[in-house]
Amino acid sequence: MSGYLVKGVSIVGAQPTDLLIRGGVVAAVGRDATSAGGAEVVDGDGLVVLPGLVDLHTHLREPGREDAETVETGSRAAALGGYTAICAMANTDPVADTAGVVEQVWRLGRTAGLVDVQPIGAVTVGLRGERLAELGAMATSAADVRIFSDDGHCVSDPRLMRRALEYVKAFDGVIAQHAEEPRLTVGAQLHEGEVASRLGLPGWPAVAEEAIIARDALLAGHVGARLHICHVSTAGSVEILRWAKRRGVRITAEVTPHHLLLTDARAESYDPVFKVNPPLRTDSDVLALRAALAEGVIDVVATDHAPHAVEDKECEWAYARPGMLGLQTALSIVYSTETLDWDGIAERMSRVPARIAGLAGHGQDPAPGVPANLTLVDPAGTWVVEPSNLASLSRNTPFAGMELPGRIVATFLRGEPTVLDGKAVK
Ligand code: DOR
Ligand code: ZN
Repeated sequence: MSGYLVKGVSIVGAQPTDLLIRGGVVAAVGRDATSAGGAEVVDGDGLVVLPGLVDLHTHLREPGREDAETVETGSRAAALGGYTAICAMANTDPVADTAGVVEQVWRLGRTAGLVDVQPIGAVTVGLRGERLAELGAMATSAADVRIFSDDGHCVSDPRLMRRALEYVKAFDGVIAQHAEEPRLTVGAQLHEGEVASRLGLPGWPAVAEEAIIARDALLAGHVGARLHICHVSTAGSVEILRWAKRRGVRITAEVTPHHLLLTDARAESYDPVFKVNPPLRTDSDVLALRAALAEGVIDVVATDHAPHAVEDKECEWAYARPGMLGLQTALSIVYSTETLDWDGIAERMSRVPARIAGLAGHGQDPAPGVPANLTLVDPAGTWVVEPSNLASLSRNTPFAGMELPGRIVATFLRGEPTVLDGKAVK
């Protein structure tokens, strides 16, 4: 037998057809696929096939915190979540601020072979915000880095930010900014608002995010370079993005599944599983983020998958690390919000992120000759999030116990299944 014949599947929400995967590509669609012999048949009845999902914002913890996540375990969680490519954030230990470290992460991704792991390089040495890292050396390394980010920290020095934008413009790179004016978030624990006042915890004001987005949109416009805004969380940020895009600034933005669903009301439980940076906001922010995603003012959904070991998460709120798991639940959470149809999901979770990251071979709808990086989803299927069943080494999902719609049935990476019947192949 050679290849896979997916029968009666809907391509991104269209009428059911047959799809032949062979030789690493989509070999045929429709009648041509049906008549090809020798392939293993996959029943696609009732299923939707999407271009494999692409995550612009994944924290793997290797090197440094392999107890919380490795490149391999994070890759497996990604494949189970329907992803075929993920961009690995630079805040590892050591920091991915040299060609050596980004090549190490890239090689570990190749060895795991479950998704394409595209390293993101740090903007500044050690994420310290003092001087630029070796951006050029990372760009010309085997890892071919195009996105640079100090995520976890903001590049808060405007002069350094300007220089970083100027530098990456030369090779059409992009700076992904964690927008947080650090002087406005000293000691911050959750969204500055009613809940924080009631709990007596220091607040993280929306303006700390919005001020940086406005400043950097102006800088990116001035330089003419590409800027990407990580995990946008406020209604005010949406208005600034809309304004910047209208002015022609080369700016893109992402929103996380958790910011599309959860609010700061969850912090009333004092359960640190709901602590994240930027923090969960309010109902009106959630509604504005959903509308912006549907409209395209926010370009993509990115997970900000942030695994943390039990001792870093199951402790007093103030001491807990910020961050939540996201890879295995992202598609279901986005689907559950009823914000996007299948074409919208393909656009915001695959095509556009692939374009921003420059990942050729990803983000393409299944058609003859296209690399078979694909995801099969059962829209009618539901599943219950059980933290101990997740592939991540960490357990910090805010969705534990929830029954979610939309089940990933299979994921193909260059024509080979990484997930079949909802289970990881290796
Ligand atoms: O919640 C977060 N966790 N936000 C970040 O910016 C960093 C991330 C992490 O690395 O844990
Ligand atoms: Zn961040």
